[in-house]
Amino acid sequence: IKKLAVLTSGGDSPGMNAAIRSVVRTCAYHNIQCIGVYRGYEGLIEGDFKEMDARSVRGIINKGGTILKSARSKEFRTKEGRQKAHKHLIENNVDGLVVIGGDGSFTGALIFNQEFGFPVMGIPGTIDNDIFGTSHTLGFDTALNTVVDAIDKIRDTASSHNRLFFIEVMGRDAGHIALNTGVAGGAEEILIPEEDLGMERLVDSLNRSRKTGKTSSIVVVAEGDKIGKNIFELKDYVDQNMEGYDVRVSVLGHMQRGGPPSCFDRVLASRMGVKAVESLLEGKTNFMVGLLNSKMELTPLDKAIKGKTKINLELLRVSDIMST
Ligand code: F6P
Repeated sequence: IKKLAVLTSGGDSPGMNAAIRSVVRTCAYHNIQCIGVYRGYEGLIEGDFKEMDARSVRGIINKGGTILKSARSKEFRTKEGRQKAHKHLIENNVDGLVVIGGDGSFTGALIFNQEFGFPVMGIPGTIDNDIFGTSHTLGFDTALNTVVDAIDKIRDTASSHNRLFFIEVMGRDAGHIALNTGVAGGAEEILIPEEDLGMERLVDSLNRSRKTGKTSSIVVVAEGDKIGKNIFELKDYVDQNMEGYDVRVSVLGHMQRGGPPSCFDRVLASRMGVKAVESLLEGKTNFMVGLLNSKMELTPLDKAIKGKTKINLELLRVSDIMST
């Protein structure tokens, strides 16, 4: 292997830049060339490449977003699109590809490898933490801190006005962000897609805690939760079935994806970039690098995509006990 390419694909997440930096510098360390691909698979299809040396990634470890930009490419889902991408890689003498992204991006990488035998390596970059084979995806920790900060601020208003706040957080179909930030932010209830509590149970529980003397409440709702799916309907239902609270909704939205990466995400990104490049240099392909039991480990891409990430049930119990 003499030349590698790196791209970021799917939703951006804090730590992607730190991972690009790590991939580029690990290539430089091993005296191989590195090219950056703009806008994920879109740039691969168009041949939108840029040579990157160690100095080209200075000053980005602390920046959110991705300097290579990101996209969700429709054309890469077609055989013609992938053929164009392969042609550009071959024309540019690229021997392997590092894909920083989520499960959709990994599915693309896997199909690409199966069709052309092109070596690929994944780095999990998404705030959702919904990928099997790593305890943490890049950006998850930063997003948790951003959300907890937001909850703390909303709580000031909740307690000053005796209000009940429903706070909707991201996570797509997974409840990892909601569960962790709910516990850390002292939420009375946490609604996640993995555990269906039902509206009545929610109202009962809120009423019970109100009777024990609570004057305000925070409910953290994962965007993928069944009863929380339409958070405004949920608010109306609770409004009609509960006495004494002024109810409000706060949807945190894309602020959760931005901002400087946390120390944890910067370290993780640096480790993942080294592992990804060195694994390709060792001749490995079709793997994702991940953090398991504090160590960098490889998981086959197909398992990373299909394997179920389990919600931490112990955390769910802790949350129940804390809201007593
Ligand atoms: O996968 C990251 C994520 O932020 C999810 O949490 C969310 O459901 C989705 O992306 C939002 O996507 P978009 O930025 O395309 O609206």
